[in-house]
Amino acid sequence: MKLFIDSADHKKIAELAQYNVIDGVTINPTLLKVQQESPIKIVQELVTILPDAEINLQVTDPEPSKVYDQACQIAQLAENMVVKIPCNKQYMPVIAKLIGDGIPVNATLVFSASQALQLAKMGVNYISLFVGRLYDVGVDGFEIAAAIQQMLDTYDYDSELLVASVRKKEDVDAALAIHADAITIPPAIFAQLIEHKLSDEGLEKFKLDWTQGPHGQLLE
Ligand code: E4P
Repeated sequence: MKLFIDSADHKKIAELAQYNVIDGVTINPTLLKVQQESPIKIVQELVTILPDAEINLQVTDPEPSKVYDQACQIAQLAENMVVKIPCNKQYMPVIAKLIGDGIPVNATLVFSASQALQLAKMGVNYISLFVGRLYDVGVDGFEIAAAIQQMLDTYDYDSELLVASVRKKEDVDAALAIHADAITIPPAIFAQLIEHKLSDEGLEKFKLDWTQGPHGQLLE
């Protein structure tokens, strides 16, 4: 499963990049609002930190006629750019044109299997399903995620499911359980992935047992 970071905070991303497990970054206007930094500078920093990662940057121009030009500019920022376009009727022709031009597209704000079916048939690279926002309105987000993943696998579509709007560490387990292609995770949750209460308790016990053991030094 591909692991993406859902953030525009290049300093936090640089810390997590030391683990060598980040396949990509997803950035939207809300994350840019938090960051208050030039988006171009953020992309430049990310390319230095993660030269092989896919940088998914969302268009901001609401005008369909201008989205295509903005998407082309985003695609030229670096080698591994993926353009995020909101799933909305007015942007479908732009998505089709970008795919025709060979520009990688991440369709964002996806909430249903029927939206995902159309996007898969169009040939987008990523289908970003917002599981957290589905749970916010009382819908089982992972049930829809599972249906989309099964659809992509059954019909052999090239599009990949990207589980987005992740709110807790357990969402990563749920994504693994449905064999999701990819997941994007906020930095605070990403940092928790390696943590487990039993690992910490086990370490404390090993430390204590060693102090009570027969050896002064392990390798003497
Ligand atoms: C990622 O591509 C999405 O923009 C992000 O996961 C949305 O998360 P949120 O619902 O917590 O804003």
